[in-house]
Amino acid sequence: MKVVVHGLTKEYITAQGSVRALGGVNLEVRDREFFGVIGPTGCGKTTLLHIIARLELPSTGTVEFVGEQRTKSPVSMVFQDSALMPWRTVEENVPLGAEFRNEEPSVYKRISRFFLEVVRLLDFAGARPHELSGGMKQKVAIARALANDPEVILMDEPFANLDAQTRLLMREELLRIWERDKKTVILVTHNIDEAVMLCDRIAVMSARPGLIKEVVTVDIPRPRTMKSMRDPDFAKCTEKIWGLLRYDVDSALQRNLV
Ligand SMILES: Nc1ncnc2c1ncn2[C@@H]1O[C@H](COP(=O)(O)OP(=O)(O)OP(=O)(O)O)[C@@H](O)[C@H]1O
Ligand SMILES: [Mg+2]
Repeated sequence: MKVVVHGLTKEYITAQGSVRALGGVNLEVRDREFFGVIGPTGCGKTTLLHIIARLELPSTGTVEFVGEQRTKSPVSMVFQDSALMPWRTVEENVPLGAEFRNEEPSVYKRISRFFLEVVRLLDFAGARPHELSGGMKQKVAIARALANDPEVILMDEPFANLDAQTRLLMREELLRIWERDKKTVILVTHNIDEAVMLCDRIAVMSARPGLIKEVVTVDIPRPRTMKSMRDPDFAKCTEKIWGLLRYDVDSALQRNLV
């Protein structure tokens, strides 16, 4: 499914006054595209994902899912902190979507085991979240998003809490999963290398109120692995994105300091 975002603005009203988080975002994410969103802290990336996921309403503008829905749900979200239910086992955390749809327990058990296999965590089906490493928890969160059978997966800095090495492995893991069953993915990240390695196109946002500055196309052939980072186009692409981000990251930083 294609995601079309048109004229999106968001103003939060708080006790301290109003905050303009998004200043008019226009985007078109293609069917089965791996699309990145990168931008300075506080520019409205999470707000944008929440509005696309319908967890939040925009002040103005629209989000449309265009195309036939071939799956059970339009959209799933992977949160930064995995957001697992601590009292449930891994196996019980995965099939939430199926449970909400009142499917048979035997059905959602099968779904759960299938997606735990996809993320290679079947051996931990009976474990509880506190018994897992950070990377494993994120994999459960990814399995849960896939098990919901969505057309579109939204990921909000899914690897931000992981150490650098695990992060590298998780990128490859995510690519492997995506190559298997291409979904439309919108990934928010602060990591330029990560965005370039994973995405077909990357929207670079300006500081708050967030706007799309430019959409950069990544012309690195797939399937990609860590070796793709040595492709000369990889460096060109990261430099281009950093060039677009630099001024805004700096000014966001200045603003937060004063
Ligand atoms: N529920 C809320 N109520 C009031 N203000 C909010 C709320 N959520 C976000 N904001 C404000 O909106 C702006 C954008 O926040 P958002 O979380 O979308 O940014 P972000 O780009 O995801 O930042 P980061 O990169 O740090 O995660 C910030 O100034 C933030 O303070
Ligand atoms: Mg955020």
